[in-house]
Amino acid sequence: MTHVKIAVFPVAGLGTRFLPATKSVPKEMLPLVDRPLIEYAVEEAREAGIEEFLFITSAGKTALEDHFDASPELERRLSNAGKADQLAAIRRSALPAGSHSFIRQDSPRGLGHAVGLARRIVGNRPFAVLLPDDVIRAPQGCLAQMVDAHARTGGHLVAAMEVATADVSSYGILDVASETGRVAHARGLVEKPSPEDAPSRLAVVGRYILDPVVFDRVATQRLGAGGEIQLTDAITADAGNLPVSGFRFEGQRYDCGSVAGFLKANIAFALDRPGLQPELSDALDMIGSLRMRHAA
Ligand code: UTP
Repeated sequence: MTHVKIAVFPVAGLGTRFLPATKSVPKEMLPLVDRPLIEYAVEEAREAGIEEFLFITSAGKTALEDHFDASPELERRLSNAGKADQLAAIRRSALPAGSHSFIRQDSPRGLGHAVGLARRIVGNRPFAVLLPDDVIRAPQGCLAQMVDAHARTGGHLVAAMEVATADVSSYGILDVASETGRVAHARGLVEKPSPEDAPSRLAVVGRYILDPVVFDRVATQRLGAGGEIQLTDAITADAGNLPVSGFRFEGQRYDCGSVAGFLKANIAFALDRPGLQPELSDALDMIGSLRMRHAA
């Protein structure tokens, strides 16, 4: 049994990189193959033993609430039409009544601010944070791997992966003191450092298991990079008092917050589907050879 029972999904961001698609459709509802992005994060949380789901939303995100609701009329129609696979798919995407709740962030004041809003529901328990933009394709879900590791490390544990020097300024970067297996013991995190100032190339990816003490930090946190309340700053502020660690997860991470990353994820996940793989492989080959012919 996992000791982490509740997960927070901050989904209040504006999703400007996907405009105009995200003008009226939440980024988290964009389909990765045929399932909305948010479903991948929720399924990963369920696999890790999470039983309570808290979404930090904002105006224009009601489609998310509808998505996790039961849909008796649609279920009845699919059942009458004998569409068993589709029926199973929509039943699988619904969350049990009473297991999930939604809190509104009034304006996008940063990830730290969004997470801070979870305090009243999370209370004094360790909790997971999953950013649905980061989709991780792995034999065992990234959060499940982290829950196992957190049973040993305690404190704050963040998912981490090595990035190129040129890319460190796009991430929170770990200041690593020492490493044990997949766990990097850190002195703290630096949000979006320049390559010259980066303490390492180990970057934070959107999965966290946090000690509730972080709520005290974000409540008093000054504005950080980008004029926002940064979660990484709050985690760093705790580094002298409790363990702060990075976990080198097993798996491939796709940055579905960027258009290119989202398209790459679509191809990778579609190629995993036996029903799509042959047609898609043929199409990719054909596009590749057409491009070569054009370039020649
Ligand atoms: P991003 O930095 O990707 O911002 O947020 P965004 O608004 O979603 O997208 P762009 O950059 O405008 O295209 C990372 C995660 O933090 C959440 C977002 O919803 C996303 O899951 N977030 C960010 C909040 O919930 N509230 C905030 O104030 C900021």
